Parts: sequence; C-alpha cells; structure tokens
Amino acid sequence: MIIAALKTIDTKDQRSVIHPDTIQSLVNLEAQIYCESGICNGININDDSLKNKEISIHSRLDCIKNADLLITPNALSREELEQMKTGSSLIGTVNPFNNIALINNCKELNINLISMEFVPRITRAQKMDVLSSQANLAGYAAVIESAQHLSIGLPMMMTAAGTLKPARVFVIGVGVAGLQAIATAKRLGARVEAFDTRDVVEEQVNSLGAKFVKIDLGETGQTDQGYAKELTPEQIQKQKDLQSDVCSRSDIVITTAQLFGRPAPKLIDDATIKKMKPGSVIFDMAVESGGNVEGSVADEIIINNGVKIIGISNLASKVANHASFALSNNFNNWISEFFNKENQEIEFNFEDEIIKSSVLVYEGNIKNERFA
Ligand code: NAI
Repeated sequence: MIIAALKTIDTKDQRSVIHPDTIQSLVNLEAQIYCESGICNGININDDSLKNKEISIHSRLDCIKNADLLITPNALSREELEQMKTGSSLIGTVNPFNNIALINNCKELNINLISMEFVPRITRAQKMDVLSSQANLAGYAAVIESAQHLSIGLPMMMTAAGTLKPARVFVIGVGVAGLQAIATAKRLGARVEAFDTRDVVEEQVNSLGAKFVKIDLGETGQTDQGYAKELTPEQIQKQKDLQSDVCSRSDIVITTAQLFGRPAPKLIDDATIKKMKPGSVIFDMAVESGGNVEGSVADEIIINNGVKIIGISNLASKVANHASFALSNNFNNWISEFFNKENQEIEFNFEDEIIKSSVLVYEGNIKNERFA
C-alpha cells in the first residue's frame, strides 16, 4: 500500500496536508509514504527533514501514478486523474460543490473519492472535521487581522495619560469561526457582542464572557445536522434593521454567517455601513461563499465611507504551521479509522455514517445523493 500526499497548487496557500509532528500516525499503518517534493515548504520544513526509511520524496507525477491512497489539498484535473491507478482512492479537501467535474471524472475513471468537507458534524467525527479545524484558526486570524487595521488598541488601558476605552467587537454568526473570534477578541481585552439565528448558542457566547444580542426574528432554528435554517427575505431585512445599531457602535464587526451548501446571507448593507464610524473595520469571513457584506471582495480591502471592509480568503494559511498540524491530523484520523492494517486497505463500510457521508464516489458509482 502506498499512501502519497500532494503539495497544494494554490500559490497563496502555505498549508500542507502533511506535518512532521503528525506523520507518525501514517507511518504506524505500515504503508509506504510518498510525499511530493516541497510539500512542507510553506511551513519552513524541507524535504530532508521529512525523509526517513518509511517516508520518501517524489515528483508530483510519481505520487499520483503510484498511490493506492492519494491525499490532496485540492481537486485534481482530468489529466492528473487519468494517471491514477484504477480502483485507487483520492482523499482531499476538494470543494465538491464547485468541482462537480471531479466527481464525474472519478466515477468514469473508477477512482474512489473521499471529500473531507463531507465528514459529518457528529461527535465521533470531530477529530476528522477539516472545516471546523480550519475555521477555528480562521476565526482567530480574523481578529488579529482586523486589529491591525484599527487606529485603537483592543484592551482598556488605564494610563497616566488617561483611560483608553476597550474596542467594541460584534461577531455575527456564532459557529466554529465565530466562537473563536469571540474568544480571541475577549482575550485581547475587547468588549464583545455576538448574534446568531440559532439561539442555542446564547449560553456559549455568555460562557466566553461576551454578550448575546437578542434579535427576535420569529421562527429560526436549526436542521437535524445542527446547521442554521435559511431565513425568509423579511427575516433578513428585520435582522439587518435591528443589528445596524450594534454595528454603528462597534469598532470591529466580524461576519461569519453561513448556511451549509448555500450562498452566504447578505447581512450588512450599504445603509448599515454608512451608519458606522469612519476608521472601523468589517471583516467578512464569508467572502468566498458570496459574502455577508455588501461590496466585500475576496483578498481586497474596500473602503466605504471610511469603513474598511476586509475579505481575506484562506485565513487559516495565516497560521499555516498550526493549520497544517490540525489539517494533517484530520486526514490521518480519517485514514486510521478505516484502514485495515492486516489487509493494507481502506474498509469502505457504507453502514458507517462517516463513510456514507464523506465517500462521494466508490467503485465507479456516485454514492452521495446530493451529486447523483
Ligand atoms: P458554521 O456553520 O460553524 O457557522 C456559521 C454560523 O452562522 C452558524 O452558527 C449559523 O447559525 C450562523 N448563521 C447563519 N445565518 C445567520 C444569520 N442570518 N445571522 C446570524 N448568524 C447566522 O461555519 P464556520 O465553520 O464557523 O464558518 C463561518 C464562515 O467563515 C463561513 O462563511 C466560512 O466559509 C468562513 N470561513 C472563512 C475562512 C477564510 O479563510 N476566509 C476560513 C474558514 C471559514
């Protein structure tokens, strides 16, 4: 069994699916490990420090051609998939909603496709949840980035030159990224408020020492999977109207609202931005899935009425070493969970909830009904 790992093709992404501190769990499977040359360059680890008797360094093509199980941080092109062994498996962060061609290609070429984005959000699978591990670090990075764009500090400081008031931070959307943004802003001494349509998170917000903003939108709730339900246009308008006062008193607004597999809801419009203080910052974490903020652009800073609107894609790459550590652990945990060491193969048991959700293609069939 050869398990091979590819380097990212995204030149702005410093992360790696392999990390020297976590690779031992792959080695323990007694498979041969191939890594693409330069795989950990983004986290300042060179090929020589990865190599040992179980781990060898190869070209991208050699990894693709020889792998029985190929770990990838990006979707592969048709040409690359054609180089893979028939019946081999590809496991990755492959962004399936935007890469339908990959799913069809894997089906046609009989390559099993495992999407880490489709690991279900259940307790047993938390250790494999790449979306959460990366969103957590992204929530941290969003606060650090936002703070750098303010002309005030975050904590209150009582100095001989006068008392400096703490910055006010408002976090919209209290999922994984939002919770870490709240925790980080609190640690830095800001006064933090937060809102989510799932009122079950009020307790979590309070437990972090932040204040939950109560906005009555009528029936909201969450799906069986724990995701927020989509609001009606009237509810969205009501939310915008009622939260605009909180935005206007905030120095930093961080938006993280998302709905699984849907475009992000637009929650901050031009009217709200015009009410905000010049010099304040809006950080739109949902910028890549359509954005929560009117006018936000991925990887640009837009200034509207003196308010900086920031949208940085791939925030986890700002803390690439920690992000790679977590990401590689997520992959290794999935592989170890389903790897039969004796037979040196992955056991695809579709009775298992994690397999059922994350395996999109198996033996030439599309297994996930969303893509069938
Ligand atoms: P999540 O699904 O855990 O949390 C999203 C939260 O938004 C949920 O708690 C949901 O209830 C809430 N929500 C939905 N509609 C809302 C509304 N109208 N008002 C208030 N809250 C609402 O998602 P996660 O993992 O925390 O990610 C949050 C966002 O950050 C996503 O858009 C994600 O794509 C983005 N993200 C961006 C990164 C970057 O590098 N820019 C990295 C990681 C995540």
